[in-house]
Amino acid sequence: MAAALLQAPGVQISGCRVQPQQQSSGGSSSSSSSTTLVAGQSSRSVVLSSAYFGRSKFVARRLWIDKASKKEFCVLRTKKQQQGVQCSVADSSTIQDSVATTQLIPGSEKTPEGVECYGVFCVTYDLKEIDEQKPKTWKKMLRVVVSGAAGMISNHLLFKLASGEVFGHDQPIALNLLGSERSRDALEGVAMELEDSLFPLLREVNIGIEATEVFRDADWALLIGAKPRGPGMERADLLDLNGQIFAEQGKALNAVASPDVKVLVVGNPCNTNALIALKNAPRIPSKNFHALTRLDENRAKCQLALKAGLFYDNVSNVTIWGNHSTTQVPDFLNAKINGKPATEVITDRKWLEEEFTPRVQTRGGALIKKWGRSSAASTAVSIADAIKSLVNPTPKGDWFSSGVFTTGNPYGIADDLIFSLPCRSKGDGDYEIVPDLQIDNYLYERIKKSEKELLAEKKCVAHLIGDENGYCDLPEDTTLPGEQ
Ligand code: LMR
Repeated sequence: MAAALLQAPGVQISGCRVQPQQQSSGGSSSSSSSTTLVAGQSSRSVVLSSAYFGRSKFVARRLWIDKASKKEFCVLRTKKQQQGVQCSVADSSTIQDSVATTQLIPGSEKTPEGVECYGVFCVTYDLKEIDEQKPKTWKKMLRVVVSGAAGMISNHLLFKLASGEVFGHDQPIALNLLGSERSRDALEGVAMELEDSLFPLLREVNIGIEATEVFRDADWALLIGAKPRGPGMERADLLDLNGQIFAEQGKALNAVASPDVKVLVVGNPCNTNALIALKNAPRIPSKNFHALTRLDENRAKCQLALKAGLFYDNVSNVTIWGNHSTTQVPDFLNAKINGKPATEVITDRKWLEEEFTPRVQTRGGALIKKWGRSSAASTAVSIADAIKSLVNPTPKGDWFSSGVFTTGNPYGIADDLIFSLPCRSKGDGDYEIVPDLQIDNYLYERIKKSEKELLAEKKCVAHLIGDENGYCDLPEDTTLPGEQ
């Protein structure tokens, strides 16, 4: 819903802290002059303002300055609608000062069309005061968008993000939560729990159901929401159904996200969904798109540790090659246990090939059989791990797995796919592919099988990535880990 800017001469706001001076009785007074909002007096508490226009009670949600026109705007919102309103200013020097400091809508000079801030996160506060309290070392706020925000995975993840354990305890966070019309209430439930958690680093929570609104100015996009495969649904149908969601989200990222947004696709089939999002977002570097295979890496580390009779922090250098499906290749050849080749610690090659490998490939399905639903908590942990691997330097000699864009890769994997490969990072959000891992015949054949599967998936979604001559002919055994 686009918010039309309209003149509201009766509204006066001064400073960032505003409160109603008077309120017309019963909310039924007409005309914009019914209520005047004036500056709240100095106090540490934050105050929401409200006003009546006609029969509608509006709550002032945000205040910002249009840099070009030097006009001040606030967002007034009722339960049903949100309006950008040009506010007249009692003392513009105060406004200039405090708005410049607050960065309430960083980088934006527009209304946050259709995205609603939630509850306590709508409070217009004076960051100038907060600045004095917060540690001087806090970084510039990071905007993280999460799709499928009312789902199980997000329910575990959001609290990790807000607590500071993922991006760091000096990193203030804004969370933009994307849900669906159906999950609207649940989305508010999530936002309520975030409110009640009093996370000091969580500065904003905005909720909405339109990607083009929720993705605005995103620094990170965690694309979790996807449709599960329904009864009788062919995998090709699933690829198409979810592909359409990711094509739309790719377009939205392209239109409104930060140009250097990092995108992590979790919704299955995540490799091909990530490729679809990437192809629909030409403004964003292809390198910024990832598909989550960290969950598979974690599962592989656990199984190797179990077999070696060691705690899992002794296991390193584990690569997952290929697709997040049952063709994925958990690499025991280059893995290390206590710094030694895993194959020297676990000498039973038959176990590695015939038990370890399928166990990792089908772990998702084994878990669904127990739980009756897909993994959620461990997926959220692995999303956190995947992000931490990009925002912290990789320990020397180690690497991590991520589904990344293959063009120019050193392993001869076909260009133009999202394929899980060994990566390392300097901790700046970027990564490089680790070259020169040993590939024997066993690994080679399996890597090629996963590549073939991804090429076939790509053909199925040709219509969503601007390719011609698409047709869908997937290998018989193409399955997600959860489909066993
Ligand atoms: C997992 O690996 O746990 C999930 O991808 C399984 C699934 O199919 O949802």
